[in-house]
Formats: sequence, structure tokens, C-alpha cells
Amino acid sequence: MKILSIDTSCDETAVAITEGAIILSNIIWSQASLHAKWGGVVPSLAQREHKERIDWVIEKTLHSAKCKVQNLDAIAVTVGPGLAIALEVGISKAKELSKKYKKPFITVNHIEGHLLSPFAQSKYLKPITGYRLPATDISFPALGVVTSGGHTEVILIKKIGEYKIIAKTSDDALGESLDKAARLLGFGYPGGAVLEQVAKEGNHQSFNLPIPMIGREKEMYFSYSGLKTAFYRLLEGKGKDFSKKEISDLAASYQRVAFSHFIRVLEYILKSKEYSQVKQILAGGGVMANVSLRKMLRDITKKYKIEVLFPYSKKLYTDNAAMIGIAAYYKFERKEFLNPNNLDKVERVPRAKVDKPLPWE
Ligand code: KG4
Ligand code: ZN
Repeated sequence: MKILSIDTSCDETAVAITEGAIILSNIIWSQASLHAKWGGVVPSLAQREHKERIDWVIEKTLHSAKCKVQNLDAIAVTVGPGLAIALEVGISKAKELSKKYKKPFITVNHIEGHLLSPFAQSKYLKPITGYRLPATDISFPALGVVTSGGHTEVILIKKIGEYKIIAKTSDDALGESLDKAARLLGFGYPGGAVLEQVAKEGNHQSFNLPIPMIGREKEMYFSYSGLKTAFYRLLEGKGKDFSKKEISDLAASYQRVAFSHFIRVLEYILKSKEYSQVKQILAGGGVMANVSLRKMLRDITKKYKIEVLFPYSKKLYTDNAAMIGIAAYYKFERKEFLNPNNLDKVERVPRAKVDKPLPWE
């Protein structure tokens, strides 16, 4: 069963074709360089670029998967969360394809996509579990952790499609916090990946920054705005001219403290009796591409004898449409289709009758 999925939730025009969990093609047109000079994503520019690129990206995806729209089984699209005017571009294209080729139409939540991204499998590598989704090997309840530019969440996965957010951020998301620190160090936008590279050369114990919410992990939420302010003050107090070594040390120190906070809250959850049945964690989202964060997550899960599953390639951490295809596959199995004519407004997404509301909606 082949699904074409589209995601235009932010600054990537992403289209993929998946067959079950196998990725047949996964094309991403990034607008990052376009927005970089503005220090963040400019919604009107993002929309214009999505409109200009979407047909080309779809063509390229079909070509790379050696597929025709006629031979697909469904069209899926991200309907949120994201930039409304950017989402609209993908939604209207998906509606158009679904109506023209009479294909079932599936709406997908972007965060559910990140959450299920570890299930994706390469068509080149021997599938880990054959042509079946490895979800069949997951024991529920499982936990999910999604760390992206807009979300920092620990999610209880009762089963696929049934989720409860058990910890989230009360202010900035982890990715947003890294981006802000990177900007203060003059790295441009988005800065998370650059910060990681620079931090590799640094010593994370050089600068003393406060770990947020220390001793208050049981409140089970994340908070990054205080850390950002502390970092700003630290830089201000030091003056303007930093050596290369100091910049690396600053990047390493910030990153370490930001990740420590995330891990401490997660550890509180893993320790608590309420979640003692959890044996597996799915981890996704742009910030999970970070090698140090993954190492910290591996270490903590090992301590509690929990298996952690990450996406198999870097491309699957940051925004992509293959992860949307995985989430769409489960909705297809549950026959959660929507009449594309009933989807007019991004703000008011009508759901298929069988659809249960997800916690992000
Ligand atoms: O999942 P994503 O691509 O988009 C959203 O849905 O937000 O996540 C983007 C975030 C940005 O904040 C970016 O700086 C961060 O992920 N990011 C990283 C790395 N690569 C991307 N953060 C830390 N280390 C990385 N290697
Ligand atoms: Zn995302």
C-alpha cells in the first residue's frame, strides 16, 4: 500500500512516498537559506516558496519512487501544528490530488509524525522487521519524546493513535532555546545544528549556568526561558570579544545544561511507579539529531532497562514527509479518511468520525 504524503508546516517543502514503513522516496526542499537573513521563518515568504516549489517536489518524489499518482493508495497531508499559511499550500495540493485521482484523503498531525518517525525503514537496508511496521514489536504503554523547534514533550503512547502528553514546556521549546542561544553567539538561524558542531570543541564545565527547575522535576514540565536569560546575562557580563575557545566552551556549557534539564525531568518520569510498565521509548524531532542528547538519552534509558528507538537517518529527525506517511499508514489501517471537501480551514480541522482527538489538537 503506497501513500504520498505532503508536509509544508514550516520552511521545508516535503513530499514522500511510503509503502507501509518503507520509504520509497523522501524529498525535502529546504527554505532555510531564504529565511536565514531574517533570523527566523517569515511566514509570507515561506508560503510563496512552498507555492513555487510544491509541484516540482511532488514530481521529483514520484520520479524517485518510480510511481504514478494513479497507482497510489492514498494522499496524506499535515494539517497542523505549524504556520497556517504555509500548511494551506500543502493542504490545497493534497486535496487537489485526492479529488483529481479519487484517492482516499488522510490528515496527519505533525507531532504524531515526529513521534512515529523511528518506525520508518529504508528501502536500501534490509528492513529490520520485514514489511511489517515494528510497532507490532512495541509493548504498550510506551513513551514518546519529541524535541523540535516548537515542541518539547514526553508522551504516553497507550497505543498507536492514542496519546497523552505527560510533560511539556511551559515557555520555550528545547529547539527554540538552542536557536536563541546560537543567535546570541552569532550563529544565525536555525542554530541548533551549528551549536552542536561548535560545542564539540568545547568544555561543557567551563561556564556555570543554572539547570532549570532543579529539585522541581516532579512538576513534570520543562522551562527554558530562565536559562536563556541567564545565558544572555553571562554573555553581557563578559563583554563582546570572545576567543574561539570561549565560544566553543559557551556553546558546550549551554547545550549541556539545556539537555540536563530535559533528561532530569525524563528520569523523574522513568523512576515513577506510574510509568513502570514502560519498556520502550520512541524519540524524534529535530533536536534528537544531536549526538550528545542521544547519548544522554541512551545512558538514562540503559539505567532503567528501557529500549530507545531513534529514526534510522538524520533526514528523518528534522521536518520531512516520510514520517507523515508512517502516521498516515496507521490511519489508513483504521480507515480514518476524510472527505477533502470538508477540510476548508486549517484552524477548524473537521475529523473523520472514527478519529479520536489527539492531544495537540
Ligand atoms: O523537527 P524540526 O525540524 O522542526 C520543527 O517541527 O520544529 O526541529 C527544528 C529544530 C530547530 O530548533 C533546530 O535548531 C533543531 O531542531 N536542530 C538541532 C539539530 N538539528 C536541528 N538541535 C540540536 N542539534 C542538532 N543537530
Ligand atoms: Zn517538525
